[in-house]
Formats: sequence, C-alpha cells, structure tokens
Amino acid sequence: MSNTQPLLSAALSARKKAYAPYSGFAVGCALLADDKQIYTGANVENISYPCGTCAEAGAIAAMIAGSGRRILEILITAGGTDLITPCGACLQRIAEFADAETQIHLADTTAVKKTLKLADLLPLGFKERSLKS
Ligand code: THU
Repeated sequence: MSNTQPLLSAALSARKKAYAPYSGFAVGCALLADDKQIYTGANVENISYPCGTCAEAGAIAAMIAGSGRRILEILITAGGTDLITPCGACLQRIAEFADAETQIHLADTTAVKKTLKLADLLPLGFKERSLKS
C-alpha cells in the first residue's frame, strides 16, 4: 500500500467543510489522480434530499475540472461506529475513472482502517460493453 497520509489529511480537511445539516453525517474524500494531484470533495446536502451529492462525486468533479483523468487511488473518511464504504452510485462513479485493481482506502476520522480493490466492492458494475448489441 502507498503512503496514505497525504490522502488522509486532504480528505479530513475536506470533511471539515462538509455541508450535511440534514443527516449530520460529514464525509470527506480525496483521490490521487494520474496528473499526480490530489483532488478532494465533501458531501453537499440539500433541503430537497435527492439533490444532495456525495463526497466522492465532489472529488471526481474536481478531478475532471482540473487536469486529472484517471483515479490512481481514493480515500473516503467519515465518523460513526461502522467503517464507511462508498455507496453503490459512488462505486459506479469511481469505476468510470478507475480499474478493477484501484485501491479504495476506507478511513475513520483518525486513520485508514481497510484498503480494498474496486473489484472487491463492485465486482459486477455496469460496463460499456453491456451497451453493445
Ligand atoms: N455519503 C457520502 O458522501 N458518500 C458515501 O459514499 C455515502 C454517503 C453522504 C451522503 C449524505 O450526505 C450522507 O453521507 C448520509 O447519507
């Protein structure tokens, strides 16, 4: 595993800025992209609940608006008693820009607790080839 400290620090900083007045559940995300930059995101909720966005979506949007195109590794941090795992929609979002082997680091608010491959979390995600007739 790579040194996850820079990703953890970045994700924790982003998490502090989360806008989560409805769930009270702040999430931070940081990813290392192929341009060697770290991009971050935090969850942004909305009074119209489905309009809220996850931390991962924010980090991916920042990467695309920046100069990154691929996710080399990604870290998600949150509080709570259970270790956070990305929601299904975010796994699909990550899959768009990552490979089966891409590491997903799961952290609490102090340290990385588990590292999994994307294929572990999303073994059968929707693929481009499924569109072919
Ligand atoms: N959330 C994320 O930011 N990422 C996830 O992978 C799971 C859930 C956010 C969405 C919502 O603002 C809050 O956590 C509670 O669901």
